[in-house]
Amino acid sequence: MYNLKEIVDKIFYIGVNDRQKEAFENYLPLPNGVTYNSYVIMDEKVAVVDTVEATVAGTYFSNLEAVLQGRSVDYLIVHHMEPDHAGSIDLFVQRFPNIQIVTTSKSKDMLKGYFNITENIMEVKEGTTLELGTKSLTFFMAPMVHWPEVMVSYENKNKILFSADAFGTFGTNDGGFMDTQLNLDKYWDDMRRYYACIVGKFAVPVQNALKKLSALEISYICSLHGPVWHANIPKLMDLYQKWSRYEAEEKGLVIAYGTMYGNSQHLAEAIAQGASEAGLKNIVIHNVSKTDTSFILSDIFKYNGLVIGSPTYMTYMYPLIEKLVSAIEHREIANRIYGCFGSYTWASKATKMLSDVSCKMNWQMIGSVDNKQAVSSDKYQEAYQLGKEMAEAILK
Ligand code: FEO
Repeated sequence: MYNLKEIVDKIFYIGVNDRQKEAFENYLPLPNGVTYNSYVIMDEKVAVVDTVEATVAGTYFSNLEAVLQGRSVDYLIVHHMEPDHAGSIDLFVQRFPNIQIVTTSKSKDMLKGYFNITENIMEVKEGTTLELGTKSLTFFMAPMVHWPEVMVSYENKNKILFSADAFGTFGTNDGGFMDTQLNLDKYWDDMRRYYACIVGKFAVPVQNALKKLSALEISYICSLHGPVWHANIPKLMDLYQKWSRYEAEEKGLVIAYGTMYGNSQHLAEAIAQGASEAGLKNIVIHNVSKTDTSFILSDIFKYNGLVIGSPTYMTYMYPLIEKLVSAIEHREIANRIYGCFGSYTWASKATKMLSDVSCKMNWQMIGSVDNKQAVSSDKYQEAYQLGKEMAEAILK
């Protein structure tokens, strides 16, 4: 049994909540689950917009059949070939052997590679329009938002943007499926984490896509993950502008540290106290052994200040700090106010390595603290002072 989820004018949501999967792409934790979204446009022709991960195909095809009520499908629009959306294409073709797959030239190679599908493919280019009857879809290329073959499409009658991964978020749709029906509190952090981890490296392609989309009047955004957006489109556009320019949402300080026996943690607390007593309220402290890197990255995208601390470990950075630094560098996160600190027993390496990060990232360096063995009261004061100076720079 399934009650239809109509967005507007015979255009339906048939996405599926995944509450089972532990980690997206097998490494990003999903405490709030995730959705795989697909849509049906019922007109003289029937078009389905993307599919879902194969693990939820049973539920998906039930949703689809409920909307179709015996009709067949003319077009399967493939915006993106990552298997969380393309995973059911082969099952789809088995059910509807006469469908045309509408997609980009780059997807054709992937359709062949993943599914050995080489026929009934309609290649579309920038600006191609597909007539469905009373409605039509116009296609725009959006390469590298998130893969090279990505496109988005615009339904001209109801002003709906089918945006592929863009504007997606982790988090299931609980009860409702549109932003107007949902308490959105849980989505904002998860949307930033999704952006930071999935799309965050591709700032220039996102900027290019936003520029292209700015010419369109958009009433609905139908992404491939999370709610259908209707009432919050200006907020989404603003967030994507900020994130893709590496602008912080708020003034604030992230302190991310590794520690084996508590000395680096002691310094983190001193820095936080100094920042607090200089008037900064947005202070988030992450022990990298307790918090997954994806959540730390999300906070780094949110706030303009960052301090990283690490013990020296086998003459290198602590392994989980190394992982965080690599994730930051890989995403080329710009425009941050930065400080660092480290602890060591017999070889001082981590603080120097963390200092070098600021040169590599072209960040504003405020200072560093290097501590040998137990934290003395002088070192505590040094760390406190670093926190104070960080806060002053952040609040300026
Ligand atoms: Fe949701 Fe890049 O796939």
